[in-house]
Amino acid sequence: MEGRHPSESLAILTDFVLTGETNSLNNLFGGELLARMDRAAGIAAGRHSRRVVVTASVNHVAFNRAIPLGSVVTVEAKVSRAFTSSMEVYIDVWVEDRQSGDKTKANEAIYTFVAVNETGNPVPVPPIIPETDLEKERYDAALRRKQLSLVLAGKMKPNDATELKALFV
Ligand SMILES: CC(C)(COP(=O)(O)OP(=O)(O)OC[C@H]1O[C@@H](n2cnc3c(N)ncnc32)[C@H](O)[C@@H]1OP(=O)(O)O)[C@@H](O)C(=O)NCCC(=O)NCCS
Repeated sequence: MEGRHPSESLAILTDFVLTGETNSLNNLFGGELLARMDRAAGIAAGRHSRRVVVTASVNHVAFNRAIPLGSVVTVEAKVSRAFTSSMEVYIDVWVEDRQSGDKTKANEAIYTFVAVNETGNPVPVPPIIPETDLEKERYDAALRRKQLSLVLAGKMKPNDATELKALFV
């Protein structure tokens, strides 16, 4: 299968934070942001694989900055690495300053999606060819993150997670 660049999978969702989407401090509710990130990441994984995709795992989420009611929030998702049927999707969340228009990074997350056929069974996806320094950095670390996710899910023995173990020795 011919490889594709991460930029070909880029999905960008921009939306307000409305009432009904906030917590009692009037900041964006975490579950609402998780859903927005899941949508953007699913679109990115679908663009890369051109298949139906399902969320297999939420590997990492960092809610570094509260996002107030009324903010304009942009969720950017790109496939950072493709394995056999699974894809790691890296998500960056930005908040726009109303006056200056400047965007500040608020949060980031990493999801895993799997491409499936009509009966829900995993199918192969094209490899990814990273281009920028950041894409190469994320690509390189993705195998360790996959191994960690599989170990935590009880789907891989820690001893078999060779690249992950290499971090600690
Ligand atoms: C995701 C799903 C298709 C995986 O099916 P499975 O029978 O476990 O298939 P496999 O064990 O062959 O795994 C398929 C791929 O997913 C990866 N995978 C499975 N669980 C994973 C996890 N927790 N973290 C990272 N990768 C995972 C495997 O490593 C494999 O990747 P590869 O083919 O690139 O090597 C299946 O569990 C499923 O349909 N889950 C429900 C998905 C869903 O409904 N999501 C919406 C949220 S409710």
